[in-house]
Amino acid sequence: HREDSRKELYYQINREAATYYLKSFCQKANPGLTYMLKRGIQPVTLKKFGIGYADGEWDSLYRYFMSKNVDVKVLKELGLISESKGRFYDKFRNRVMFPIINTRGKVIGFGGRAIDDSMPKYLNSPESPVFMKKNNLYGLNLSRQDISKENCAILVEGYMDVISLYQSGIRNVGASLGTALTENQAKVLRRYTKNIVLSYDSDSAGQAAALRGIDILFKEDCRPRVLHVSDGKDPDEFVKKHGRDAFKKLVDNSLNFVDYKISVLRRKYNLDSYEESIDFLKEAAVIFRNLSPIEADVYIKKLANEIKISENAIRLEINGNNTQEEFVTH
Ligand code: UTP
Ligand code: MN
Ligand code: MN
Ligand code: MN
Ligand code: MN
Repeated sequence: HREDSRKELYYQINREAATYYLKSFCQKANPGLTYMLKRGIQPVTLKKFGIGYADGEWDSLYRYFMSKNVDVKVLKELGLISESKGRFYDKFRNRVMFPIINTRGKVIGFGGRAIDDSMPKYLNSPESPVFMKKNNLYGLNLSRQDISKENCAILVEGYMDVISLYQSGIRNVGASLGTALTENQAKVLRRYTKNIVLSYDSDSAGQAAALRGIDILFKEDCRPRVLHVSDGKDPDEFVKKHGRDAFKKLVDNSLNFVDYKISVLRRKYNLDSYEESIDFLKEAAVIFRNLSPIEADVYIKKLANEIKISENAIRLEINGNNTQEEFVTH
């Protein structure tokens, strides 16, 4: 019970910080607002997500909370205030602030995007008694009904991807908060739907994240699909340039996780070479090994047909028949 009331206090302070950032954001000629408008986010969307602005002063938020007699220890724990050489200062300065809100409507943390070249590009709240990154998805507070209704979730990397897709009318979307998808996040999503479309950035980091995401979702009994952003580096850029219907086409054309894994594998090998084809098929067999026999059968047929190898050879490979050993001993 005492733990609960402590948490409530933390939520309340986070909410007050969000309100403070929101007030700055709404001031005339605010650099945060200018930045977001330039990125094509409309006021109604900004309001929906509670986007704010942390000003460039060293300790404005700190002084605000001191005037309200808030315990500085709590502010530090929430990652709103830092201490250096006995002085306190605001952790987030001159950044667009994205409040991270859980499905119970509580502000659990923040992401702050630099509006100049300051590093890091995004500064996130640290883990705190109310913020466990691995358990939460950004945007789920707004999108979970749509995810249930459409029985499908689109999973993206970043804050801006969620916001842009949402604005375009694609509302069954969430982000894994920068980190690769965790087991807990997969379990959370799984409460709303089994059908998940991984829509990560088109760079190699995004591809690696998709491959990891597939395995995590597979363990939660999902058969995810993977969408490839064909133009632009992420869903935010794509949907701004091409609009909602074009993005929906990408969803329709997304690959199921097996085809996606095979396509990644294909790019690794030169299939004009016999040796490399053999290695390719051996690795493909490892992918099929985790599937149910019926599922595996479909993909074995498809691959055997494409590569011109007998289905039986692939099946033997999957079952780990080691003909080489036999050859040696007999
Ligand atoms: P990206 O680098 O793809 O950023 O990181 P983005 O979302 O496309 O950002 P914009 O469009 O440049 O504004 C994806 C996500 O990874 C996390 C953030 O959650 C970000 O949205 N991230 C990224 C960080 O936490 N810190 C960073 O420095 C960078
Ligand atoms: Mn400040
Ligand atoms: Mn990226
Ligand atoms: Mn982006
Ligand atoms: Mn991105």
